[in-house]
Amino acid sequence: MAQVELKDVSKRYGSVEVIRDLNLMVEAGSFTVLVGPSGCGKSTLLRMVAGLETISGGILEIAGTRANDLDPVARGVAMVFQNYALYPHMTVARNIGFALKIAGLDKAEVESRVREAADVLQIEHLLDRKPANLSGGQRQRVAIGRAIVRDPQVFLFDEPLSNLDAELRVSMRVELARLHQKLKATMLYVTHDQTEAMTLADKIVVMRDGRIEQTGTPEQLYSDPDNVFVAGFIGSPRMNFLSGEASQGLVHLAQGVTLPCPSTLSGPVSVGIRPEHMTPRGGRAHSLPVTIDMIEYLGGTRYLYGRLANETPVAIEARDNTGIRAGEQIDVTFDNHSVMLFDASGKRIRSAAPIPS
Ligand SMILES: Nc1ncnc2c1ncn2[C@@H]1O[C@H](COP(=O)(O)OP(=O)(O)OP(=O)(O)O)[C@@H](O)[C@H]1O
Ligand SMILES: [Mg+2]
Repeated sequence: MAQVELKDVSKRYGSVEVIRDLNLMVEAGSFTVLVGPSGCGKSTLLRMVAGLETISGGILEIAGTRANDLDPVARGVAMVFQNYALYPHMTVARNIGFALKIAGLDKAEVESRVREAADVLQIEHLLDRKPANLSGGQRQRVAIGRAIVRDPQVFLFDEPLSNLDAELRVSMRVELARLHQKLKATMLYVTHDQTEAMTLADKIVVMRDGRIEQTGTPEQLYSDPDNVFVAGFIGSPRMNFLSGEASQGLVHLAQGVTLPCPSTLSGPVSVGIRPEHMTPRGGRAHSLPVTIDMIEYLGGTRYLYGRLANETPVAIEARDNTGIRAGEQIDVTFDNHSVMLFDASGKRIRSAAPIPS
């Protein structure tokens, strides 16, 4: 295992800058996940680490050594792609062992490494098959096997599970977590699925538009986001954002509802409340009327989706059977302590003193 460090790294295609002065430390042995919306530069970043893209500016270090101009093969990294990229005319065994054969390892050594990888991935019974005769999950395991046999210091995964159906994705997620524990290699993993990121990562890196918005453990990003973007991106259903107006130590929401805020704050603010911090409970002071459009029943919990009078969408988590039906208007309360405030630029306002309820 090795650490990977990017220092002021940028990537330009002509005049378009798709990665901007990015700084990131991927600790040795960590499972680091890059998330962000489509086009934010996740694959580009991974491909630069792999050596499949040139680096326009800054320094890439792998295991403490400058790697900007290192040949991809010399970097000690192996990449697994979304589309598997298996050779259709080769058996599973040959697909897995191909890179080793090219590297000039003798036949017995290749065979033994292929068996070992197949054992880890539980695909020994498939070694003589061609990729066409495998399921999606099996193909993905072959693609991972091809990376494992090279015994890389760093694994790079680019949305490896996004071609799989929902159920298989969940079980492959568990297998990847196990694989990481077993191999103890550094893993840098790209996904735009925040649930996948939350379950797999030691550390999540949230990207937007070629930049890092915030880095932290899943818990940190969930409970202490720096801005509206991260708060909205991490968590499902996403955080509710209500618009308010701050003046003289109070944020004024719709319907005469107010919240305490730092007295220095004034002007438009965004009030973030997670679905689990909203309670459908009628007839109280300090409540917001919400018209319910849809109820998602998930067994233990249910999510109520509705909107405020001004059409702001709202999601509410209910643990018990509330008896509420779609079409109803209900009063929703929330706990002041769990509210997050964001200024007009989207930056989180962290009050020095706790907000009184
Ligand atoms: N060869 C290229 N020339 C110009 N622009 C490019 C080129 N390759 C990628 N880009 C641009 O770089 C940006 C980042 O692309 P990238 O593939 O890294 O995004 P991504 O975060 O992986 O997105 P997705 O989630 O859709 O895979 C995009 O805006 C893309 O259009
Ligand atoms: Mg991509």
